[in-house]
Amino acid sequence: GIDLGKLLASTGYVTYDPGFMNTASTKSAITYIDGEAGILRYRGYPIEQLAGKSTFIEVSYLLIYGELPTKAQLEDFTDRIRRHTLLHEDLKRFFDGFPRNAHPMPVLSSAVNALSAYYQDSLDPRDPEQVELSTIRLLAKLPTIAAYAYKKSVGQPFLYPDNSLSLVENFLRMTFGFPAEPYEVDPEIAAALDMLLILHADHEQNCSTSTVRLVGSSDANLFTSVSGGINALWGPLHGGANQAVLEMLDDIKASGGDVKEFVRKVKNKEDGVKLMGFGHRVYRNYDPRATLVKKVADSILSKIGGDDQLLDIAKALEEAALTDEYFIERRLYPNVDFYTGVIYRAMGFPTRMFTVLFAMGRLPGWIAHWREMHREPLKIGRPRQIYTGYGERDYIEIAGR
Ligand code: ACO
Repeated sequence: GIDLGKLLASTGYVTYDPGFMNTASTKSAITYIDGEAGILRYRGYPIEQLAGKSTFIEVSYLLIYGELPTKAQLEDFTDRIRRHTLLHEDLKRFFDGFPRNAHPMPVLSSAVNALSAYYQDSLDPRDPEQVELSTIRLLAKLPTIAAYAYKKSVGQPFLYPDNSLSLVENFLRMTFGFPAEPYEVDPEIAAALDMLLILHADHEQNCSTSTVRLVGSSDANLFTSVSGGINALWGPLHGGANQAVLEMLDDIKASGGDVKEFVRKVKNKEDGVKLMGFGHRVYRNYDPRATLVKKVADSILSKIGGDDQLLDIAKALEEAALTDEYFIERRLYPNVDFYTGVIYRAMGFPTRMFTVLFAMGRLPGWIAHWREMHREPLKIGRPRQIYTGYGERDYIEIAGR
C-alpha cells in the first residue's frame, strides 16, 4: 500500500518527463495497446473483429458501459440516442455568429461547449442520471452539430435530423442533403464511414483524451470537457493530421508527383517538413488501424470512384518511406490518418471536415474515459514543473529600464 508518487512528492522529488513519454497518468480498463506488436483492443475485443463485425453505435456502448450490449440493450441505447438528435432552436442560431469561411473544428468545439449553456439539467458530474443524459445528448447531437458546421461552411440550409435513419445515415443526409429533396444514402459509403468511426473510437491516453480527463479532473461537466478534447484533437500532430495528409498529397500531385523528392525534403528536415500521417508515440512496428484503413481505401475507391492518383501517390510515398533508412531507424510507419483522407474525399467531404469526422469517431472514447475517471474519487490533474527562470530580483521603476 505505499503510494510512491505521494512519497516522492513529500520528499520534494519531481519526475521530469516532457511529453509524458513514460508517465502513466491513470489506470484504465477501456483500451489496450501493445505498440511493439501492433495490437489494439477495446474492452478486450481486437479492433479487427470489431471493425469487421460490429457497428459504431454498438462499439460506443461497449466503450462506455464495458460490455457488448444485448439486443434489447442495443435497441434501447439506439432509441434513446435517436430521441435526442435535435438541437435547441436557439443553439441553431449560434452558428450564424461564425464567419462563413470558419474552419468547422472551432465551430464544433464551441457548439459542444455551448451545450453546457442550453442543457443545464445534465451538468452535475456526481449525478448518475445527469451523466447518462449528457452522454446520450452528446452522442446524439454531435453528428447534427458536425453537419450544421458543414452546412454553414458551404452556405446551405440546415436539415433537421430524420430519425428513421441510423446515426451515420442521418449524418450523411444532414451533411449532403437538401430540405424537401429526397436523399438516397449510399449504403457503401455509410458502411465504410461507420467502420472508420469504429477505428477512431478510442485510443487510450492520447492527447485529446488526456485533455478531456484533465479538464474533467477539475470537476468540469462532460460537455465542457469534451469541448476541450475537440480543441486538442484539431492540432496537426494529432487529429488534424488527416487534413494535413491530404494537403500534402495534393501538393505532391500539383508539383508533379515526385515522392522521392518529398521524402528527401522530410529527411533533411527542410522547412520543418514532416511526412504527415507517419509516426506514432506508441506504435513502433505498425498501426493496426492503418492496415485496416488501407484495405478500405482500395475497396471503397473501386466502388464509389475517387482520385486514384492520390491513392497511388500515398502508396508510393509509403513504399518510399518504408524502404528508407531515416524512417526504418526511427521506426516510423503510417498511422490511422495516412489513408483516411483519400477515402473522405472520395465520399465527398471537403478537406476541412476530416478532423470533424475524427471527432465524431473519438467521442465515445472521450465519454468512456471521463466516466471511468469519475468512478474513482476525483483527483485534480496538476503536473509539476522544473523552474528555469530568474532567481529573486528587485523591481525596476519604468524610467530606469
Ligand atoms: N516525418 C518525419 N520525421 C518524423 C515524423 C514524421 N511524420 N515523425 C517523427 N519523426 C522523427 C522526428 O523528427 C524525430 O527525429 P530525430 O530523432 O531526428 O529528431 C524522431 O522521428 C522521433 O519523433 P518524435 O517527434 O520524437 O516522436 P513523438 O512520439 O514525440 O511524436 C508524432 C509522435 C507527433 C505522431 C510524430 O510522429 C508526428 O509528428 N507525426 C506526424 C503527424 C501525424 O501524423 N500525427 C498523427 C498521429 S496519430 C493520431 O493522432 C491519430
